[in-house]
Amino acid sequence: MRKATITGWGKYLPPNVMTNKDLEEIVDTTDEWIRKRTGIKQRRIVDEDTATSDIAIEASKEALKRANLDADQLDLIIVSTVTPDMVFPATACIVQDKIGADNAAAFDLEAGCSGFVYGLSVGAQFIESGLYDNVLVIGAETLSKITDWEDRNTCVLFGDGAGAAVLQATNKGGFLSFDLGSDGSGADALYIEAGGSRNPATLETIKNKQHYIRMEGNPVFKFAVKTMKKASIDVIKKANLTTDDIDLLIPHQANTRIIESARRRLKLDEDQVYVNLPDLGNTSSASVAIAMAEARENGKISNGDNLLLVAFGAGLTWAATVIEWNENI
Ligand code: ACO
Repeated sequence: MRKATITGWGKYLPPNVMTNKDLEEIVDTTDEWIRKRTGIKQRRIVDEDTATSDIAIEASKEALKRANLDADQLDLIIVSTVTPDMVFPATACIVQDKIGADNAAAFDLEAGCSGFVYGLSVGAQFIESGLYDNVLVIGAETLSKITDWEDRNTCVLFGDGAGAAVLQATNKGGFLSFDLGSDGSGADALYIEAGGSRNPATLETIKNKQHYIRMEGNPVFKFAVKTMKKASIDVIKKANLTTDDIDLLIPHQANTRIIESARRRLKLDEDQVYVNLPDLGNTSSASVAIAMAEARENGKISNGDNLLLVAFGAGLTWAATVIEWNENI
């Protein structure tokens, strides 16, 4: 049976590092509070003149190289992001042009931090249906551009970065199952209030800083703990596996307490969970993509391994997949 699998992976991290100590200079916080409550030690931040497409392109080039694919062989590019270069056109179209993917369709997908896993599910459907052979899925964010650097509730959490994956057809392994979901009743827990059709941007909205991320941390935290567990169990079941069959959990990197809770509930050992949150912070839809690329680079993933990818985010949304890793189609 024709399945989709990941044959290329890539990431890009901006070189500028912002530490918790740096944040102590900006807002009323401490390195100790940030580490204890979130697990984060530092994050990467793009330059002023760098946009999301710029870092998406770098991650994409790496993923294409690993898949041994030229850009003009791509059939589709999906960019998942909450920080597009502009409201429109889609950042995916900007990437398509700049990498020379002359034969690719392109669109953006917005599902908060769950976006990359949502994107994998969409890309996989195009391949499994036989419509397309080569799909590039990118998770890329420049969250520093939509962060209120005077709001200690949010500015300590986020970072910038991009990850990408090339999806191709295989008849062995690949994506075994997906579990996607949403609960829009939690839309007011994590949002940007102005700049859309509800509250178009005005001098007033800018003055009131309504173009920045606002978050009710506690409800998001509770939602995350609940859905990470439920989505993981459901997606493993859909793959006809048990938690004993999972070799590596790659969770959305938002808070080490959330990750630890998921790990314990799934009864996985510490070395069965990939965590890079202390160094990168929460990079929203790029987080799972970057973590997966890093895990592969660090020798944490081998052919035949069963990976569990699980994420939650604004919407509120969640998304999980089980992949039997098979990069040699
Ligand atoms: N430094 C010092 N104190 C702080 C800071 C800070 N940076 N931020 C908040 N505090 C204070 C609060 O003001 C509060 O003080 P008070 O008790 O005097 O009112 C106290 O710390 C405790 O605040 P809580 O919100 O209860 O802290 P909590 O333990 O819930 O941790 C956190 C907050 C880290 C935000 C947690 O709720 C969390 O991780 N939530 C999930 C966030 C998330 O994962 N978002 C992901 C989605 S992002 C996306 O989709 C784009």
